[in-house]
Amino acid sequence: MKNDFFKYQAQTSPHPLAMEISHAEGSYIYDINNKAYLDFVAGVSACTLGHRHPKVVSAIKEQLDKYLHVMVYGEYIQKPAVDLTKLLANHLPDNLEKTYLTNSGTEAVEGAIKLAKRATGRSEIIAAKQAYHGNTMGAMSVMGYEERKQAYRPLIPDVKFIGFNNHDDIQNITTKTACVILETIQGGAGFIEPKDNYLQQVRKQCDAVGALLILDEIQPGMGRTGTLFAYEHYNCIPDILVTGKGLGGGMPIGAFTASHELMSLLEDNPKLGHITTFGGHPVIAAAALATLTEVVESNLMKQTLEKELIIRKHLKHPLINDIRGKGLMLAAITSSAKITNQVILKAQEKGLILFWLLFEPAAIRITPPLTISNKELIAGCKIITTILDDIQKSNSSL
Ligand SMILES: Cc1ncc(COP(=O)(O)O)c(C=O)c1O
Repeated sequence: MKNDFFKYQAQTSPHPLAMEISHAEGSYIYDINNKAYLDFVAGVSACTLGHRHPKVVSAIKEQLDKYLHVMVYGEYIQKPAVDLTKLLANHLPDNLEKTYLTNSGTEAVEGAIKLAKRATGRSEIIAAKQAYHGNTMGAMSVMGYEERKQAYRPLIPDVKFIGFNNHDDIQNITTKTACVILETIQGGAGFIEPKDNYLQQVRKQCDAVGALLILDEIQPGMGRTGTLFAYEHYNCIPDILVTGKGLGGGMPIGAFTASHELMSLLEDNPKLGHITTFGGHPVIAAAALATLTEVVESNLMKQTLEKELIIRKHLKHPLINDIRGKGLMLAAITSSAKITNQVILKAQEKGLILFWLLFEPAAIRITPPLTISNKELIAGCKIITTILDDIQKSNSSL
């Protein structure tokens, strides 16, 4: 299997972790030798309710028995997609009323950018340095990390970058700007929270110049930071909200939500402003509906902030300089990228799944399922601190 994996399946890096999966359940993934791995990554913030949550699995099975794909997005009335978009609207402010369902996060970002251009008739897009919004051409154009995108230029024109949390840069948002796109909490950059009312100031400037504000909540959304969406912490409501990842409960999804007025622009003049074959797929929508229902009806969101405190308490170590982020979107910043690499690889040997962040090489990603137990969190933290102890000992004996 390993040979075939490297021979036939296209890779994204020279050194994938290449663990061969047998099955997964709750907070654990099992390899083909039936070794259990405690999951501190949740498929990179995607498995909100852990692996194969019974409510998600039964929603999928129920839908499988009714119908699969029947028509391109938006033509037929399919209950899972309608119920999902309605439930989202019920938990969002009035201006975020209508949702367009896509197949992935990056596609939702594409749709959001197109909508902003269509609505304003402007072309300039402002994004943040170190931002990550996906890997298709439009989303890559607003990625604030030149090294990873220079090989793919030319990208879309008229994109400018401002420093996240840099209040002076806000003045670069002008009457030429169609939209500002920001992650509510920067992910790839190292789980950087907005500070000193930054988002509110950006919101104010967007309003002053008639630019739209797009907040990308693909990673921090779906209860991961203790509220359904992270913008709730910062009192800043976007014009377009982009979601994905954890919304699907382990199935592929993306979504962008805006007002009725804005969204109707994609319908006409020209019609078919944004189309997709599989967006809103009934099985995926059923899984997402079950996931969202569980997140809003259970205590999971509230417990997320208690779980953050447990991690912060049990992850104290001289080789950890900082723990950034909020709720169960945390990044432990070690003293060096080398130490981070050692911890992530050693943890896998010891049955704990950790992972990197895109642009911050010293960060260890800690984004477990919201359903992880306190006991499992403490056990995982213990594995990390024991590995760090060993690294410290071997460094001091050199
Ligand atoms: C903030 C953010 N935006 C967009 C994306 C892209 O989503 P997808 O990988 O589903 O295309 C990601 C994925 O990591 C993300 O974290």
